[in-house]
Amino acid sequence: MKFEQFFFGGDYNPEQWPEETWLEDVSLMQSAGVNLVSLGIFSWAKLEPQSGIFDFEWLDRVMELLHSHGVSVNLATPTAAPPAWMVHLHPQILPVTADGTTLWHGSRRHYCPHNPDYRGYAQRIARVLAERYKNHPALAMWHVDNEYACHISECFCEHSVAAFREWLKLRYTSLDQLNFAWGTAFWGQAYGDWNEIQPPRRTPAQKNPTQQLDWTRFSSDSWQVCFEEQKRVFKEITPAVPVTTNFMSFHRPIDYFKFAQLEDVVSLDSYPDTSQPDWMVHSAMTYDLIRSLKKDNPWILMEQAASLVNWRQRNAVKRPGVMRLGSLQAVARGANGIMFFQWRQSKFGGEMFHSAMLPHAGTDSRTWREVSALGNELPRLSNLLSSKVEAKIAILMDWENWWALELDSKPSSDLKLIPNLQAFYRQLYERNIMVDFAPPEADLSSYKLVIAPNLYLVTGIAANNLNNYVANGGTLLLSYFSGIVDNNQHINSGGYAAPFHEMLGLTIEEFVPYQAGFNNTIRTTDGKQFKNTFWADVVHLNTAETLANYEQDYYAGGPAVTRNTFGKGTAYYLGTELLPDGLEWLIDRILEQAQVRPDLPNLSAGIEVMLRSDKSKEWLFILNHTATSLEVPTGKNGTDLLSGQEVNGMIHLSAYAAAVIEQERIYRGVV
Ligand code: GLA
Repeated sequence: MKFEQFFFGGDYNPEQWPEETWLEDVSLMQSAGVNLVSLGIFSWAKLEPQSGIFDFEWLDRVMELLHSHGVSVNLATPTAAPPAWMVHLHPQILPVTADGTTLWHGSRRHYCPHNPDYRGYAQRIARVLAERYKNHPALAMWHVDNEYACHISECFCEHSVAAFREWLKLRYTSLDQLNFAWGTAFWGQAYGDWNEIQPPRRTPAQKNPTQQLDWTRFSSDSWQVCFEEQKRVFKEITPAVPVTTNFMSFHRPIDYFKFAQLEDVVSLDSYPDTSQPDWMVHSAMTYDLIRSLKKDNPWILMEQAASLVNWRQRNAVKRPGVMRLGSLQAVARGANGIMFFQWRQSKFGGEMFHSAMLPHAGTDSRTWREVSALGNELPRLSNLLSSKVEAKIAILMDWENWWALELDSKPSSDLKLIPNLQAFYRQLYERNIMVDFAPPEADLSSYKLVIAPNLYLVTGIAANNLNNYVANGGTLLLSYFSGIVDNNQHINSGGYAAPFHEMLGLTIEEFVPYQAGFNNTIRTTDGKQFKNTFWADVVHLNTAETLANYEQDYYAGGPAVTRNTFGKGTAYYLGTELLPDGLEWLIDRILEQAQVRPDLPNLSAGIEVMLRSDKSKEWLFILNHTATSLEVPTGKNGTDLLSGQEVNGMIHLSAYAAAVIEQERIYRGVV
């Protein structure tokens, strides 16, 4: 998708307001620099008040009004909010939980993704919308549904069971293959007929791990199918109009790497909890993930809160300057659009205390002033619309691995992927080193360093890819409980981490998951001591050298951190979990060896730096997340696009302020 301007705007729900308000809305939008709104997201009941009876006149008037005020429309399909009549006519569209409870009408997302009646209605409303607005000059983009797999991610109704069986038939073609993959020889679970197969419902004891994994794969695919059905309608009727749906951070139920390939542009809803001192690390990590889903393509921040949300126990305001800073953080990490939920704060309904661009207090309010100031300054950044973020490090992220890793009955049920990804990510964030996320089968050749935390499930293709990456000169850091199972979740024979033995130059005999509160220490070969926690692998070296050994317990003296030269590259292995100081030591060593350096070294804590660049220019984003004014080195001279001022090697940033310095491109980062 080509961006001609930064998008700025939000969800617009005019149906909650009398028509008199609409004129005020559009003129305020104009004054706030709004150029795009997401319209009609929950309007199904108003657009189709009875089955097949449509009322578009109100929407025609809204579209015209927006267009005449220079606001384009990201037109939504309202399919996340099936109307009451549909539920009344077809109660079987309602989703059913694993224990058989039906979830009723009265909020939203109350549909089963496998229900043919629902899917028919959804495609019909998409088609009617597309036919009606296909030539409307305000139509800029299609917003399909809203946050797939939010609130409910799977359905256990009879339609879902039937769809699961069909999905399994396609995947395995024969019951013999399914029985093999699911390992049904264990506890006599063999199937002799497809109709005997059920989803992983409540069982007396451990469920079949592969059955559970396939169910999650299937459920993830099902949301994609719903999206694709609507997208097909739009591609038929409006082939030139981009299609998106709004994603939600590290959202476990859907494989976003897979799903994103179906979208013309990736978009994200982001609600960091700004009461947490490290909220910016969480949002940075999310933005880097979202950018990586369609590498080298800009994305859209489709929703964020202007200030507080209303769904946490205690909802933090965004303090003065924080909303702007967070928005610029998204731009720094590849966003070409800053949008909000929602335009005007609701007067009623479940979200009336959720902040909005135009709050209950009206325009004489801090929120409004900050929102309209941002909308009016974003166009100053238009030079960088076609720039990219070029990271030299990738952290591997694989949804299937995430699902499999966190199923029950593991050596430790406390092993969770995302906190571990975050521990590595934080090390790089704090050094202001740019990071992509990549699936393990991706082309990794442009990265100097790849970090793979807990890559428990690894396909043959991914294992080859990683081995080749190192053999061809890459540096890899793999952490414990990696390479353990194949795609079917069967143990890889030949000792733990078998697919990586040669590359790592070691074998792993057994795991030692620690009891809560138990720690150990490691002693490094350069004389340092660090605490390690949670887990220890009992490792035997072949060609690898040890960089740190355990100090206590029966495996004392055994390697905790190793390094091996493999082909032209180097593979590091971390057989335990380190606290931040130990991780800092390890990452420093690896970065030095991989020759990756920060763009601007030795910055004060709380200063975040990112770079977007094109062939001839680069834009250095400097964000001050602290409550104090700071002098920050800028490396070289340029112009701060936000203030319009020339910068000579140093910039003064007041509390929560930011600069975007346009500079001539130089060779950076990698020595
Ligand atoms: C999500 C939804 C919106 C709204 C916001 C509230 O992002 O897409 O409709 O409910 O959450 O934070």
